[in-house]
Amino acid sequence: MGRVEGKVAVISGAARGQGRSHARLLAAEGANIIAIDVCEDIASNDYPLARPEDLDETARLVEKEGRTAYTAIVDVRDRAALAAAIDTGVTELGRLDVVVANAGIAPLTKGGPRQAFIDAVDVDLVGVLNLVHVSLKHLKAGASIIATGSLAASLASQNTSGMDAGPGGAGYGFAKQVVSHYVNNLALQLAPEFIRVNAVHPTNVNTAMLHSPPMYAAFRPDLDNPTREDAEATFPILNAMPVPYIEPEDVSEAVLYLASDAARYVTGQQLRIDAGGAVKAIPWSGS
Ligand SMILES: NC(=O)c1ccc[n+]([C@@H]2O[C@H](COP(=O)([O-])OP(=O)(O)OC[C@H]3O[C@@H](n4cnc5c(N)ncnc54)[C@H](O)[C@@H]3O)[C@@H](O)[C@H]2O)c1
Repeated sequence: MGRVEGKVAVISGAARGQGRSHARLLAAEGANIIAIDVCEDIASNDYPLARPEDLDETARLVEKEGRTAYTAIVDVRDRAALAAAIDTGVTELGRLDVVVANAGIAPLTKGGPRQAFIDAVDVDLVGVLNLVHVSLKHLKAGASIIATGSLAASLASQNTSGMDAGPGGAGYGFAKQVVSHYVNNLALQLAPEFIRVNAVHPTNVNTAMLHSPPMYAAFRPDLDNPTREDAEATFPILNAMPVPYIEPEDVSEAVLYLASDAARYVTGQQLRIDAGGAVKAIPWSGS
């Protein structure tokens, strides 16, 4: 028996990176997957997003685990299209037990357009709310909602990131902070129905979002056009453990735990998979 045997999970941002890793691990542990991704670029975000063939590859990986994948190319900002995709996916796969609101952008350009703030908030905050809200009517006791936050949520709340990543960076930090607050408050609302709501907060993760020119520039404001090597010299600054980043699979293990019945009384948590980044940045407050 897998740890999420017979469950159905919807994952946004599933075409690559952490979303693909979550899809693969949940499928390996017995879940069928509704995989959602925008599969096209967003203009204010200065690195490419996934492509349709990436989403196809995620479906192939799910099927390789002997499970079923239902894929839909949808923008999480479009609540009506998202609702239609989830409804069809639930009809195809029979039920919905797990919601993983993972899709995100990081349009971190210093001096970038104000549209970057709007897009970061619309994707990273409103996109999370949209996915959860269109999924809720399908969820029953035992269901689990998991939102992807970031170490940036803790840093933004303390104003300790020390980075000037432009309007998009400000929007990103704000969105992730509000996702944390939302998870906290929604958990209380849904607890009487035995529906759980938690957040995972990764530090740097080894994905295309991290390995992007705007991210390199945010980590190396001292250089023009910094390379991956330049950025990797400073990536570890965020973490207490001396690593530049973690792997998508490290976050997937946390998602699997929160999705599974092993976590049946775990709700309202802000689970940091951050190599000690938050404890490094935030002094102990006594609670
Ligand atoms: N990579 C990091 O260092 C890092 C650190 C902390 C948190 N995060 C968060 O982890 C999550 C996953 O990011 P990742 O690291 O896998 O990056 P990624 O860029 O590899 O994956 C993000 C996925 O989301 C999709 N997406 C973007 N906008 C979308 C939209 N409007 N609608 C639907 N899909 C959309 C992209 O096409 C892509 O497939 C994000 O929420 C991100 O903010 C990432």
